[in-house]
Amino acid sequence: MIAGLLHRDNPPQSISEKGFSTSSIDLKPKGQANPLDEKLTSYSNWVGASQVMRDLFKHVQKLAKSSATVLILGETGAGKEIIGRAVHELSPRCSGPFIRVNCGALSESLLESELFGHVKGAFTNAIENRVGRFEAAHGGTILLDEINSVSQNLQINLLRVLQEQQFERVGDTRTISVDCRIIAATNRDLAEMVDDGDFREDLYYRLNVLPIYVPPLRDRKEDIPDLARFFVRQYSAQNQKLVLNISADALAHLERYQWPGNVRELRNYIERAVVLAEQEELTADLLPAQVRGEAPIRMGRTDRSEMQALCAELVARGVSDLGETGNYHEQMIALVERELIAQILRTSRSQSRAALRLGINRNTLRKKIEDFRLESELD
Ligand SMILES: Nc1ncnc2c1ncn2[C@@H]1O[C@H](COP(=O)(O)OP(=O)(O)OP(=O)(O)O)[C@@H](O)[C@H]1O
Ligand SMILES: [Mg+2]
Repeated sequence: MIAGLLHRDNPPQSISEKGFSTSSIDLKPKGQANPLDEKLTSYSNWVGASQVMRDLFKHVQKLAKSSATVLILGETGAGKEIIGRAVHELSPRCSGPFIRVNCGALSESLLESELFGHVKGAFTNAIENRVGRFEAAHGGTILLDEINSVSQNLQINLLRVLQEQQFERVGDTRTISVDCRIIAATNRDLAEMVDDGDFREDLYYRLNVLPIYVPPLRDRKEDIPDLARFFVRQYSAQNQKLVLNISADALAHLERYQWPGNVRELRNYIERAVVLAEQEELTADLLPAQVRGEAPIRMGRTDRSEMQALCAELVARGVSDLGETGNYHEQMIALVERELIAQILRTSRSQSRAALRLGINRNTLRKKIEDFRLESELD
């Protein structure tokens, strides 16, 4: 169910009610449920009673009925995946599989075999036949997350699946036909990527049949209290804590903050606050300094300032998690460096290419792979 949508008429049990305990969160409306609500009870983790989220939900309900391709756009952490799931669960395919593939997490060759499968002997590590994710999604829905990071080569293969619902496993000549609905999600502006020559225009039009834009949390601040309470309950139950209430000034800070990392950032801060809480009230001192307005936070819609905002969040979180180790510089730099090298290795064809892209020499890279134990990232 879309919990927040039902809050207005059917408020969930107040979080400040003493003795309230949850192992699972049941926000089912009491009394007569209308047919719409009935349908919504199939999932209970989407909160959002703001007008914009209600409108968005109506839109999702409408387009869920067709099997046309959906493109979900929105900033990181805004809730694209949760909405992708809603499209599936409200669709006639809801009893079929829902398969999510994070296209940004795999190198080109791994992603190809992940999506399309491979036959034994297709490449060195292909020791047996493998069914790809498109086949696994037959009769259901596949969510291609971070579609913006798919290489130009794979974009061509995807175009064919979109046009003909057909493909071949890697190393095989037999054509496989599937019936699956495709949902793609992106946190980069694909139209801009098309202009820059980084994304195929034909694929973009094929994907952009039914676009859904998930607005950033700062543009729907009415959702913040409901979301915060929802996460407080969730993490209290998970951590066997009895945090029952959010203080007025903590809530005021949450509502004032700009949330560059959107709902995910809110969820993370609430989790940490619940873990740290020693009383039944979640108080402002449990929130990170930038949420309390005591540390700078940079906001902006261009890629660069978004990066800075994310970086500010990462550093604030890292510093808080590390505690008083007195070793912030080394630990934070190592954290970022390791992730950077891992990602570049995953998306480069060879170590020398990775070294070139990183702008460091091959021996240095080899040493870093050893130091950071990144051997598993090498193909
Ligand atoms: N409306 C919502 N109600 C409840 N939880 C939400 C909502 N929106 C997002 N979340 C939670 O916030 C987190 C981030 O959401 P999600 O993974 O859907 O974001 P995303 O847009 O796909 O992010 P990314 O671009 O980084 O992949 C998840 O834990 C999700 O459950
Ligand atoms: Mg996502």
